[in-house]
Amino acid sequence: MIRIIEQASELNSLVNATKKTGLSVGFVPTMGALHKGHLTLVKKAKKENDLVIVSIFVNPTQFNDKKDLDKYPRTLENDLVLLKPTSADIVFSPSVSEVYPHGDLIGADIDLGGLDTYMEGAFRPGHFKGVAQVVKRLLDIVTPDRLYMGQKDFQQFTIIQYMIDKLKMDTILVVCPIIRETNGLAMSSRNERLSALTRKKAGIIYRTLLTVKNNCNISSIVELEQYGMKRLAALSPFEPEYLTIVDGNTLTPVTDIAATNYAVACVAVWADGVRLIDNIILKKEN
Ligand code: PAJ
Repeated sequence: MIRIIEQASELNSLVNATKKTGLSVGFVPTMGALHKGHLTLVKKAKKENDLVIVSIFVNPTQFNDKKDLDKYPRTLENDLVLLKPTSADIVFSPSVSEVYPHGDLIGADIDLGGLDTYMEGAFRPGHFKGVAQVVKRLLDIVTPDRLYMGQKDFQQFTIIQYMIDKLKMDTILVVCPIIRETNGLAMSSRNERLSALTRKKAGIIYRTLLTVKNNCNISSIVELEQYGMKRLAALSPFEPEYLTIVDGNTLTPVTDIAATNYAVACVAVWADGVRLIDNIILKKEN
């Protein structure tokens, strides 16, 4: 039976008691409207920890677009049904005032080393300040041994890793691979808002990323980025916002793939009024 907790203090006490007995705690933060991508994070957390906590909280401070916040799907009942087979132990489903008791509804001023200024940060001002603020608050409440996040949101997990290091937080970030629909579209709670036809056609995003990867040793960065933008823009209703090849650690643009040891192609595309993001690792060497 999954236990639902709404109060931060109750959850914090339960975690403290659990850790005192020597058991480990894994944490999966989400905004609900769960899909297979989320569930793989939960299953991995369950394999690696004794107690698994999933938070479901649509964080208002990370939405730079009020309409996006209003339209964000809220499906708690169904989320609980989906979580049942994962054997998650606790769902933390707090109210906004429980998470922000002082009413601090503007993104906190946490040093993100400038990582929040590129890509998503450039197009969604304040977004990552809000993400960092809520993840910091949730980590303070949950104090997990391990935190599980998806590669789907590449910039997000990079920023959270930076924050964890900078604030010397005592949690290990575990990054999980991108789970895709059969046509290659990265699973996302926002996919529900696409028309059936657009959703089918949206496999073009992953196919474009794969072509970029397949050609990354023979074409220049400019050629790859231009090719990707053109291919996506050519198919209605897709409107690419950016397709950029960046360094996986610093998120700064890469100029020569051969000269870097960690390169990632990141993309953001609008379709049917929905913003879709995806990425592919082109090269990663230790
Ligand atoms: P949300 O979009 O609900 O995603 C929760 C977690 O699931 C994130 O770590 C995300 O990267 C991961 N995820 C989403 N789709 C995935 C997919 N197709 N494959 C693998 N993992 C996937 O990201 C957020 O919520 C919020 O910003 C949050 C971190 C909870 C802060 O509010």
